[in-house]
Amino acid sequence: MPKTRPPVHSLVLIDASQAVPLWRQIYEQIRAAISSGRLAAGVRLPASRALASDLVVSRNSVTAAYAQLRAEGYLVQRGRVGTFVATLAPDRVEMGARAPRARSKTAHTVATRRQLSRVAAMAMTAAERRPRGDRGLPVPFRIGDPAIDVFPVRVWSRLVARSWRNGRVPLGYLDPAGSRTLREAIAEYLSGSRGVRCEWQQVFIVSGTQQAVDLAIRLVLSPGDAVWIEDPCYSGARSAIDASGLTAVSVPVDGEGISVDDGLRLEPKARGVYVTPSHQFPLGAVMSVSRRMALLGWAASADAWIIEDDYDSEFRYASRPLPSLQGLDEQGRVIYVGTFSKTLFPGLRVGYLVSPPGLVDAFQAAFALGGRYASADAQLVVTEFITEGHFERHLRRMRALYAARQAALLTYAQGQLSEWLDVSPSAAGLHLIGWIRDRGSSAAKIIERAAEAGVELRALSHYTQRMPKHDAILLGYAAFTPAVMEAATRRLRGALAGRRASGARARA
Ligand SMILES: Cc1ncc(COP(=O)(O)O)c(C=O)c1O
Repeated sequence: MPKTRPPVHSLVLIDASQAVPLWRQIYEQIRAAISSGRLAAGVRLPASRALASDLVVSRNSVTAAYAQLRAEGYLVQRGRVGTFVATLAPDRVEMGARAPRARSKTAHTVATRRQLSRVAAMAMTAAERRPRGDRGLPVPFRIGDPAIDVFPVRVWSRLVARSWRNGRVPLGYLDPAGSRTLREAIAEYLSGSRGVRCEWQQVFIVSGTQQAVDLAIRLVLSPGDAVWIEDPCYSGARSAIDASGLTAVSVPVDGEGISVDDGLRLEPKARGVYVTPSHQFPLGAVMSVSRRMALLGWAASADAWIIEDDYDSEFRYASRPLPSLQGLDEQGRVIYVGTFSKTLFPGLRVGYLVSPPGLVDAFQAAFALGGRYASADAQLVVTEFITEGHFERHLRRMRALYAARQAALLTYAQGQLSEWLDVSPSAAGLHLIGWIRDRGSSAAKIIERAAEAGVELRALSHYTQRMPKHDAILLGYAAFTPAVMEAATRRLRGALAGRRASGARARA
C-alpha cells in the first residue's frame, strides 16, 4: 500500500491565545516538521491561500512564514509550479557523519618574552594583529562600529540614575556567571528572536565576544588541537585561537558558508570550528541548511565543538533575522556567543555565551575561577533596557536607520567610486564590500591614499589566509550620517583620482 503523508495543515497547530505571532507559529512548526523528516525533501506545500483557509488564519501569516522558510533555505519556490521542501543535500550530511575524524623588536620585549610561558609568548605574537589603544570616535568608513551617534543616551542615563536612586544595584558579589535576571532576560530574548534553545542557567555573562571565544576554546580544546576557521575570518577570533596554542586551519567559505568537505580534506582531525553562520564575517554569506546539518553531523561524529559567533544577526533588512545554528543542535555541540557591542554600544563590554547543557558545570567552574566580568550596574541597566521594551524598540529603529545609511553609501559609492570599486547592496550587516575593479591595483595603495584623505579602509585580504584572487575594500556605514559619508566619498574620490593622475604623470 502506498505510504500516505500527513497533510501539511495537520502538522501545524495554531494557538491564537499565545503571544507568539501566527506567522511565527506556522514557520516554527513547518521548520520543525522539515528538520525531523516529517515533511520530506521535494514535498510540495499547499498554496498560501489554501493553507490559510485550512488553518483559519490570514493569508499574510502564511506568506510571511513561507518567505522566512525560503530565506533560510528550507523551502524553494519553483516558478509558478509551487513551493517545495528543499533538498537538504543528504550526501553532505552523511559525509559529515562518517568522517570522524618574531621576532621581538627590542631588547626589552626579548627579555619579557623569555620570562613568559609558551602560550603567553604566542599570545603576544597573535596580539600584534589586533588594534591597540582607544579607537576613539568612528572614522568613515571604519567597519564594526554601530550608530553610537543616535544611541538613546537619555533613556540609558535615566535607567542608570533610577537603579542607583532606588538602591537596586547589587553592591555585593554577584554570581560569577552573571546576574540571574540578566541571564533570564537574555535566554528569553535569544529563544524568541534567535531560535536559541536554552535555560537561563546555560547563559553566562562575559565582557564581549572576544572574551567568550577565548574562554570557550580554553575550556574545550587543548594546545596543539586543530580548529577550523573560516577563510576569510574575523581577526579577533583568529588571534584568540592562535594565542591559545591551537592550530588554526583556514577553510574556504563560499555562498553557503564554510565548506565542510574542504575542512575534512584540509584537517580531518580538527576538534573544533569557529563560524559566523548568520552572516559570514566579512563576506556576508548565510550558512545554508545543508551546511548547517553537515557541520552538526561532523561535530557529533568527530567529538568536536562548534563556536557560533552570532555577532550582528539582528541587522537583516530584506527578511527577518535567521535563527541560530544552536537551535538546530540536538547533540549539544554548539557553544553560542553573542554581544551587545553592535546592538547597544561596544564600550559597554557586555556579551553572552550559551553553553551546551553538558558543559554548564565546566563553564560554571571556569567562571568561579575567573568570572564576574561585567559590572553589577551595567548588568542591571541592560536587564531593564531589555525587559522594559527599549531594546526591541532600539533594534527596530536601528534596522531602519542602517538600511537608510546603507542606501546612502551605495548611492555615493556607485556615483563617485565606480571607477575603482564595484559596490553592491547587502541584505544584512553593517558594512558593504567594494570589489576592486582593476585586479592589478593593490588594496594597500587604495588604503594608503584613503588615509591621506582622512578615510579609514580595510581590505578583504586583511582577513584571509591566502591572498585572494580578487581583493576588495570593506566600507562600514552604520556609524555615519549620510552627510559624513558623502563628504568622505568625495575626499576618497579626489585621493584616488589624484593617484591616477600622478601615476600617469610619472609614466609620461
Ligand atoms: C565577527 C565579529 N564578532 C564579534 C565582534 C564583536 O566583538 P566584541 O563583542 O568583543 O566587541 C565583531 C566586531 O567587529 C565581529 O566583527
